[in-house]
Amino acid sequence: MNLIVAVDKNWGIGRDNGLLAHLPGDMAYFKATTSGKTVVMGRKTLESMPGKRGLPNRTNYVLTSNPDFAAERCIVVNSEDELMKALSAFEPDDVFLIGGASIYNKYYKMCDKLYITKMDADLNADTRIVNIDEDGGFEVVSESEPMTENGVTYRFLVYERKK
Ligand SMILES: NC(=O)c1ccc[n+]([C@@H]2O[C@H](COP(=O)([O-])OP(=O)(O)OC[C@H]3O[C@@H](n4cnc5c(N)ncnc54)[C@H](OP(=O)(O)O)[C@@H]3O)[C@@H](O)[C@H]2O)c1
Repeated sequence: MNLIVAVDKNWGIGRDNGLLAHLPGDMAYFKATTSGKTVVMGRKTLESMPGKRGLPNRTNYVLTSNPDFAAERCIVVNSEDELMKALSAFEPDDVFLIGGASIYNKYYKMCDKLYITKMDADLNADTRIVNIDEDGGFEVVSESEPMTENGVTYRFLVYERKK
């Protein structure tokens, strides 16, 4: 399984149930990396997306405790058990956790590969994930050159779980 996320200097990922910065290059990277794959998200992340519906060209799983929840293009699952059963039908390499913090923090240890966009700024987040560098279980296997958009400098890093 994989994870893809954009973090600020403090491993912040969101504010007011939205993203911290508008980075078209990162959005394109996210789309290219996850298109054709299966993505997994929490209900709040789904509701932060345009139209509150699943992403096109992907199989979308949404976790919520609400058994009546429904959303366009989404397969709704109501528990971790139900999610893991559903995901067992897919190649683990083709599954991406796409947020939010509740999903990343609970399941990152199950991932083999982490696609982390690091933004070199403190963006005043109200939602954070675990500091993967301090976790020690993963190593950086690639790092892009920095780029700057809308005043934010960022790099794409790929981590793999240490053997
Ligand atoms: N920077 C990035 O790359 C990135 C990516 C994605 C999201 N985000 C940001 O992250 C923030 C949202 O994160 P969040 O942690 O607050 O919310 P979230 O993880 O998106 O959603 C939390 C909800 O997921 C459901 N859920 C989680 N685990 C569950 C389980 N085991 N069983 C049943 N339901 C479960 C619950 O829904 P119910 O309450 O309906 O039961 C829970 O309230 C937003 O600011 C968003 O913009 C950032």
